[in-house]
Amino acid sequence: MDKVINAAIIGYGYMGRFHQRKLAGTKGVILTGVFDTDPNRSDEATVEGLTVYETAEDLFNDPAIDLVLICTPNDSHAAYAIAALAKGKHVMCEKPVTMNAKELEDVICAAVASGRKFTTHQNRRWDRDFLAVKKVAESRNIGSPTTIESKVFGQRGVCFGWRALPEHGGGMLMDWGVHLIDQALLMLEGHRVISVRARLMSILTPAVDDYFELSLRFDNQMEYHITVGTFALQPQPRWFMHGDRGTLKIDTFDPHTASMKRIKQDVRGFDSVFEKEHLGPSRTMAPLKPEFIEELVMPITEDLSHEYHRNLVAAINGQEELHVRWDQMLHVMHIIDLAKESSKKNTVLLTQNLYKDGGYEKLFGGLYGIRRSKPASKRAV
Ligand SMILES: NC(=O)c1ccc[n+]([C@@H]2O[C@H](COP(=O)([O-])OP(=O)(O)OC[C@H]3O[C@@H](n4cnc5c(N)ncnc54)[C@H](O)[C@@H]3O)[C@@H](O)[C@H]2O)c1
Repeated sequence: MDKVINAAIIGYGYMGRFHQRKLAGTKGVILTGVFDTDPNRSDEATVEGLTVYETAEDLFNDPAIDLVLICTPNDSHAAYAIAALAKGKHVMCEKPVTMNAKELEDVICAAVASGRKFTTHQNRRWDRDFLAVKKVAESRNIGSPTTIESKVFGQRGVCFGWRALPEHGGGMLMDWGVHLIDQALLMLEGHRVISVRARLMSILTPAVDDYFELSLRFDNQMEYHITVGTFALQPQPRWFMHGDRGTLKIDTFDPHTASMKRIKQDVRGFDSVFEKEHLGPSRTMAPLKPEFIEELVMPITEDLSHEYHRNLVAAINGQEELHVRWDQMLHVMHIIDLAKESSKKNTVLLTQNLYKDGGYEKLFGGLYGIRRSKPASKRAV
């Protein structure tokens, strides 16, 4: 029987509370303590019967704590993670795991030195809309995918609180962008990104990007477009995937809002033109007769939202590998760094330097300890 893991949270805000609920529903782990710089949050934790630490150091020095969950604004993640690992704690850090790839390399070095588990919370890997699209892409049900559009829009037009401040790692690229890039890299697992183009804009929040577009070209010539906006009063589909035999659209995060259509096997598009409606003089863009199109059933997965915390506990107990790996985390952060650079320089950036050591998996196939001798900042990206 495994020992129950004692966990503590730094940053008892929205996500701190989220993890409290998740841990309560996970076997083999118990939340015992909290540290937050806001006394109101500390009072709330006291009411919940949790130990409230005066300082983060007090928490790290408590030998009873096995696991630290870092749920503070983004700029404090790296320093807290390094300090916790140095005291022999396992660490789960909210996303974005750090402010940039260089910071992440420093944390990974600390994790290597400590021998403790270290991961980040890429929970949107288990979103059912994403899993459904991934299944369709892999099944080739609409043929080979050529383009995927992944879009998230809100209506409020604000990046609130620390999210509005660049020094805290605010903005939407560092927020939703991290999730959507992680999803893109998983969707195209085994393929490399060959170019990155991004446009970050401040529409209603002055100092950070409250809207961005990011295009990743993969080595199989797939184009993956990510768009995030905080202010859109008309909906766009959450997902749009073009295949060479059909098209998938999902309106929202609920995969039941999907519609997937494929041209029938023996139909040639040119033979099945229906009518031109308001199109004007064009045969190329005329619609197909409906009887030549088949509607496909979307593969919908079970709810796996408990999977992240279950795996975290199993990994700490040495029973499984962590789902969210260092190589994957570093890959995401390199793409984030490149997206910022691309937007600043208004140019497409090629990514060959990302993979020049043989790719991420080779990098972490036991080799990371050797690379520690090189300063992280010298790694060309
Ligand atoms: N995985 C996800 O789906 C998801 C969703 C939302 C937020 N997040 C991430 O979670 C983290 C926290 O976001 P949030 O929405 O919970 O923010 P929040 O503002 O609701 O909570 C942050 C908490 O940290 C405390 N805090 C601030 N600076 C601190 C410091 N230096 N030391 C200790 N405590 C400090 C604040 O008082 C607050 O209670 C961010 O990294 C964010 O990107 C992840």
